[in-house]
Amino acid sequence: MNQPVMGGIAAVNAPSYVKQQKLINWVTEIAALTKPDRIYWCDGSQEEYDRLCAEMVAAGTMKKLNEAKRPNSYLACSDPSDVARVEDRTYICSAKQEDAGPTNNWVAPAEMRVTLNGLFDGCMRGRTMYVVPFSMGPLGSPIAHIGVELSDTPYVAVNMRIMTRMGKAVYDVLGTDGDFVPCVHTVGKPLAKGEKDVPWPCNDTKYIVHYPETREIWSFGSGYGGNALLGKKCFALRIASTMGRDQGWLAEHMLILGVESPEGKKHYVAAAFPSACGKTNFAMLIPPKAFNGWKVTTIGDDIAWIKPGADGRLYAINPEAGYFGVAPGTNANSNANCMDSLNSNTIFTNVALTDDGDVWWEGMTKEAPAHLIDWQGKDWTPEIAKETGRKAAHPNARFTVAATQNPVIDPAWDDPAGVPISAFIFGGRRSTTVPLVTEARSWVEGVYMAATMGSETTAAAAGQQGVVRRDPFAMLPFMGYNMSDYFQHWLNIGKKIAASPAEMPKIFCVNWFRTDENGKFVWPGFGDNMRVLKWMLDRIEGNAGGSENIFGVTPRYEDLQWEGIDFTREQFDRITSIDKAAWEVELKLHEELFDKLKYHLPSELQSTKAQLEKRLAA
Ligand code: PEP
Ligand code: MN
Ligand code: NA
Repeated sequence: MNQPVMGGIAAVNAPSYVKQQKLINWVTEIAALTKPDRIYWCDGSQEEYDRLCAEMVAAGTMKKLNEAKRPNSYLACSDPSDVARVEDRTYICSAKQEDAGPTNNWVAPAEMRVTLNGLFDGCMRGRTMYVVPFSMGPLGSPIAHIGVELSDTPYVAVNMRIMTRMGKAVYDVLGTDGDFVPCVHTVGKPLAKGEKDVPWPCNDTKYIVHYPETREIWSFGSGYGGNALLGKKCFALRIASTMGRDQGWLAEHMLILGVESPEGKKHYVAAAFPSACGKTNFAMLIPPKAFNGWKVTTIGDDIAWIKPGADGRLYAINPEAGYFGVAPGTNANSNANCMDSLNSNTIFTNVALTDDGDVWWEGMTKEAPAHLIDWQGKDWTPEIAKETGRKAAHPNARFTVAATQNPVIDPAWDDPAGVPISAFIFGGRRSTTVPLVTEARSWVEGVYMAATMGSETTAAAAGQQGVVRRDPFAMLPFMGYNMSDYFQHWLNIGKKIAASPAEMPKIFCVNWFRTDENGKFVWPGFGDNMRVLKWMLDRIEGNAGGSENIFGVTPRYEDLQWEGIDFTREQFDRITSIDKAAWEVELKLHEELFDKLKYHLPSELQSTKAQLEKRLAA
């Protein structure tokens, strides 16, 4: 591991299984810029993972959890300033500003390169540069793509091993001239000779930069989640969305689940929700007892890559191999499958430590332990919490766990061919206005619903929480190009399917989050979302009723299965009613959005809006 330093630049020493000179040249070039003390080529082995974790324990970055309670698991606690996505520091540096669109920060590529060259010069001094090869999607799948991340923190290497297919085998797929997305990441805290490191190095200056034309990612100053694990949001969404635009496919912020009826009829659906709106829970849903014989299985919980197949249908893969989920609120009732997944081999970040060396977070158990060490390393008791309001776990605390730990993983989750998608679901967190479920009458109407989605903001991003913002397709923070061009791309995909022998996937809009006058959720959510999912499947199969309203088709009370739950017609009305005044305001907000996105906004969306307004006024 300790390569000699020659002339101040670490020896590259690529292993013999790395066959691509272009890749080796790039590593050499980045090392010359960033000046790490050492270069380490990750092979993705268990031995390597264990060793890097042990090194981080020694460095104080992670704690090893109680082996008897939580085997092979760790707790990492970040710097308190480095806990979420930093959207105001995230840039799409396309050649033309209009290609980044009005929803992204933009700086001209040449200008950004000057800034980053300055920041990255010597940024890895005193550290090791890890070379992390990864495949987004099953190795060698025609839907998959390869990336290589250079990072100066082992936290990235071990998390990428869980979140992606990471290691040696990637070089076989790459061969001598295969394409890869180059990703450069630094925590931005070089060490002077003899300087002692901190447990979670980072920098107040942060840049998360994407060059869509050259398909490069450069990230400076943060070690957190999507800012640092560059295969996830940066590659699989921002860069991949532009690849999809150019190549005719979709990169989406969507879970993918399989649902099978007792008769053995199986469909796959993909669902987009903003961060921290329950995607992981929905992807691992346990049907209520009354749905005996129904099975829900997980393909993915966060990202879908979807390509049209030869038969005209859309085939989806999960480009990831693990889950980077929000821990708070996860418990045996909300997501028992997830809790089971986390029993071992898990990295926790920013949750609390119990006195017996296990983890805890708000919502894990009804009663909090009498004493904890909170995510900032301070003593925590329920009394202290009551007095100060201090949380034991950060609200955006996460777990990193391999998909294979999921007890309801779908048998096809690693199938290189992907799975055919029968329906798309779009949902936001809305305490008012948006009804429980609506089926779009057409592809265009569905695209309109997705384009105008709004959601109340959560702790997943830095900034104010609980305010409604428009989040088209749940892609606002992850869009790699002009949002209106993306809407057009979706419309074009619809036209292609319409012209093929394949059936159009249905599009649904859902809202699990309507509240009553006390601010309490009316809909039980979680497993009971199966009731809505079943209605969708029955609609796909042509077996369920519904009634048409202003926005599309919705189930009547009697169209849903209510066995095993006390949910009255009155409660149902509360979460399905359409408040005309609220919708007049809502449509004004759609207008505002469209005004912001007017450059290249598809005319079909404008005319769909005009029809909605007419129906609302009638
Ligand atoms: C992120 O953007 O850092 C991230 C992890 O996204 P999400 O909240 O959607 O998981
Ligand atoms: Mn996400
Ligand atoms: Na068709």
